[in-house]
Order: sequence, then structure tokens, then C-alpha cells
Amino acid sequence: MTPRIQDILDKADREGAVRRVRTDVAVAAADPMLTTPAAPGLEPALAATLAATGTASTTHLGTSTAATVAAPPLTPARIVAGALLDPRLITANSANSAVAEQYRALRTRIVHADPLSPVNVVLLTSAGRGEGKTLTAGNLGLTMAQEWQRRICIVDADLRRPQMQRLFGLPDGPGLCDVLAGRASIEEALITLEEHGVTILPAGHVPAHPAELLGTTAMRRTLETLRTQFDRVVIDAAPAVPLADVSILAPLVDRVLLVVRAGVTTRPAIQDAVSAIDSAKLLGFVLNEADQA
Ligand SMILES: Nc1ncnc2c1ncn2[C@@H]1O[C@H](COP(=O)(O)OP(=O)(O)OP(=O)(O)O)[C@@H](O)[C@H]1O
Ligand SMILES: [Mg+2]
Repeated sequence: MTPRIQDILDKADREGAVRRVRTDVAVAAADPMLTTPAAPGLEPALAATLAATGTASTTHLGTSTAATVAAPPLTPARIVAGALLDPRLITANSANSAVAEQYRALRTRIVHADPLSPVNVVLLTSAGRGEGKTLTAGNLGLTMAQEWQRRICIVDADLRRPQMQRLFGLPDGPGLCDVLAGRASIEEALITLEEHGVTILPAGHVPAHPAELLGTTAMRRTLETLRTQFDRVVIDAAPAVPLADVSILAPLVDRVLLVVRAGVTTRPAIQDAVSAIDSAKLLGFVLNEADQA
């Protein structure tokens, strides 16, 4: 592990503010890389304040893309009202909680990460199973939609263990795999949650060898379409090791976030995951469930 990553993890260990949060879910952006170079020293609390004041508009997006997209809008075939979201989607169920605030801080750090190269398509992965990728991706997407009232798409690209449909209480139907296999159009596969202003591309019907689908031109095209149609795309992916999925997807996204479960993920496992991710793409770490460590 590089000294820098070691420092980051040590710093995360010391994050007393995160440990004090007494809730089910605690999340913190643990990597200084997530603070903007344009505003060195910007602390998470301050970043969160900026977001909460509603000043996070196009300026914060740091890109002209969001404001100038000219492509005709996709119309998701399914618009769902009254979906029964899992209570762990705390940013929807308890938007004013301290934990939701931490997700907002994470969101702001991502937005400010690199003014020269905006993070419009972000992929979440982890070193192993069950570290909180899906929960983090879901809450992050909801937070993005709430704060900006912008077009946000959450993609379930963890074709090994797809969970987004269940987390958001969505009906069965086509999803990413069906689009990639030519069985459905993107419009048919997308589901917009009316109250939450977020659109989900569930995994759909997963085949036996899903990595082959991720490496197709159809996958590249699908992500390019989503990029032009949404202001932000949040992708839930499989663990970075030992699978090839993340290495296949990383070139297609702007940046990758590594979700680390406090007190669970070992440093050697993190090191393996970091080695599997192109260092130019790795944006930073999300320290999940920090209060449990
Ligand atoms: N911060 C948290 N607080 C409490 N429980 C959590 C937290 N993060 C994750 N969990 C729980 O841990 C389990 C795994 O979470 P999640 O499904 O988000 O992880 P994952 O990395 O997507 O897992 P998988 O590798 O299976 O896709 C779930 O039961 C979830 O509720
Ligand atoms: Mg998952």
C-alpha cells in the first residue's frame, strides 16, 4: 500500500466526528482527494453547509454539460409512484438526519473533486462482498437528486448480486442486461421514481456469464446515452477483486469510489482492490459504517 493510501486510512480511523454518529448507517468520504483543489482545506461540514443552502447549482456541477445537453430527452417507460423504499435508504426516509447529512457531504466532495474533469459518471466498488456499495450508491443517488433537483440515474451493474431493484421496491421487468442483450430499449428498462426524482436502471434478467455483457459495445453505448441524458450517473458494481467486472467498466466511467467497511475490510484486501483499479480513475474511499468500528 502506498504511504498516501496508508495515511488516508489512518486519517479515516481518526475521524472522531464520524464515530459519534449513533445511527444505523454512517458514511464518510475519507480521502483528501475528494476535497477540491480549488478550495483546499474545505472541510466536510462546510461542504455540507454549502449544499444545504441550495447554492449547489450548475456552478457546483463544474461543467457546462449539464446546462447545455441538447439531446432529446429519454422518456422512461415506467414511472412509479409510491414505491416502498427500503428504510435503509435513509436519505429518502430521514433526509434531515445526521447520516443523510454525511451522504450530502460525500456528494459535495464528489462534485468538488476535480473542477477540470467533472465526475458525472461515478462507479462504486469495494474490496469484497457486503461492504455497503449498494446502500451507498442508493443513498448517494437520492441525495444528488434531492439537492439539485437534477436528472440522476442509478445503474445496477453488479450483475453478480443485483440488489437495487429490491432496495428501491421496484417491480420486475427489463433492466441493464436486457438492454445489453437487445431484448429491451433503454427507455423500457429505466424506472423513474416520481417522488424522489431519481431514475433507476435495474440489472434486469442476468445471464450466466455477466462479465461478457459488460465488455460489449452495447454497454459502452448505453453508458454514453445515460451520460448525455442524465446530469449524474451512479453505478453500483461488483467487488473489484477477484472479478474482471470493475476493470472492464472503469474505462467507461469518470471515476471510481472504493467503499470500505469500517472495522471489517482488511488493509491487504484494500490494497488488492486498489491495485485492481486504474489509479487515474480512483477518486477515493467511502468509509462505511464508521461508527461501528
Ligand atoms: N452503514 C451501514 N449500517 C448498517 N448496515 C449496513 C451499512 N452498510 C451496509 N449495511 C448492511 O450490510 C449489508 C450489505 O450492504 P450492501 O448490500 O449495501 O453491500 P454491498 O457491498 O452492495 O454487498 P454485495 O457485495 O452483496 O453487493 C446489508 O444488509 C446492509 O443493510
Ligand atoms: Mg450490492
